Amino acid sequence: MENGKKIVLSGIQPSGIPTIGNYVGALRNWPLLQGEDRLCYYCVANLHAITVKQDPDVLRQNTLSLVALLLACGVDPKRSVVFVQSDVKEHCELSWVLNCSTYMGELGRMTQFKDKSSKHADNINAGLFTYPVLMAADILLYQSDIVPVGEDQRQHIEICRDIAIRFNKNHGDIFTIPEGYTPKVGARVMSLQNPAQKMSKSDPNPNGFASIIDTPEAIQKKFRKAVTDCDGVVRYDPENKPGVSNLLAIYTSFTGMSMAEAEARFAGENYGALKNGTAEAVIEGLKPIQAEYSRLMGSVDYLHEVMEDGARRASEAAARTVKRVYAAMGFNA
Ligand code: TRP
Repeated sequence: MENGKKIVLSGIQPSGIPTIGNYVGALRNWPLLQGEDRLCYYCVANLHAITVKQDPDVLRQNTLSLVALLLACGVDPKRSVVFVQSDVKEHCELSWVLNCSTYMGELGRMTQFKDKSSKHADNINAGLFTYPVLMAADILLYQSDIVPVGEDQRQHIEICRDIAIRFNKNHGDIFTIPEGYTPKVGARVMSLQNPAQKMSKSDPNPNGFASIIDTPEAIQKKFRKAVTDCDGVVRYDPENKPGVSNLLAIYTSFTGMSMAEAEARFAGENYGALKNGTAEAVIEGLKPIQAEYSRLMGSVDYLHEVMEDGARRASEAAARTVKRVYAAMGFNA
């Protein structure tokens, strides 16, 4: 809580351009959480991004794009604090302290670590392992009450809570214990090429995902190539028909239709119609965001002002927490 407002915090990595999965599962909800009784902190998690190799110029560009996209999706930088993680030095400071209150065994159980270390077997660095500790620092620095995340991040919220509870027990009541919040609908959009996997902006196969700023032609092409199955019936059945169900889920997310309405809309039609219809819905839904994004990318100075102002406001709150933590550790505070 801060001045009687609940604190909401979330983060997104600038490790590529967000996909329609990031949009439906996260970005679309962020502006909706802004309200009179809440203060939202939205963090572009570039420190997290370097747990896998990044080209510095691309990372810089993706960071700027992501700030523009957050605003284009409706996040208001006056009401919310939009900031870049590396601009607020307290993230690294608290992260170190929390590393010393986190067990190797806990971190070794994280499915994202297991997943990413098998995907990047040539670069299993210590940062990949302690990633959840940095994420816990992001959350705990702002005394966050609510952390909107996708299903895949629930485990990281759990470990954050465990770290905070343990820290409070050992060092006095310092941290607010956060709650994760995962909206029911659209929490999980799967890859267009492999519907057993979550759609990912760092997928090496560009046909696996549609990005928020893909052109209408690119979106049509990617959906045309989407993997389905061979029984030819448009029906929602994630277990037996993961590809078709994923398309239907995307379709309902973008049209607001219920699953039954979507099934009825495509009843008796072939997969071509489902793919085209879904691509059209996505293209239409993204149109206003893409227009605003282009406008903002033409005002780079303004985007830099937003980042500076966000960093200043975030640092103020973060510094208060670090001061208390340092004092509790026996450091000069
Ligand atoms: N790890 C999150 C993801 O990959 C991004 C993230 C970084 C985050 N810091 C956060 C999410 C803090 C919520 C809160 O999706």
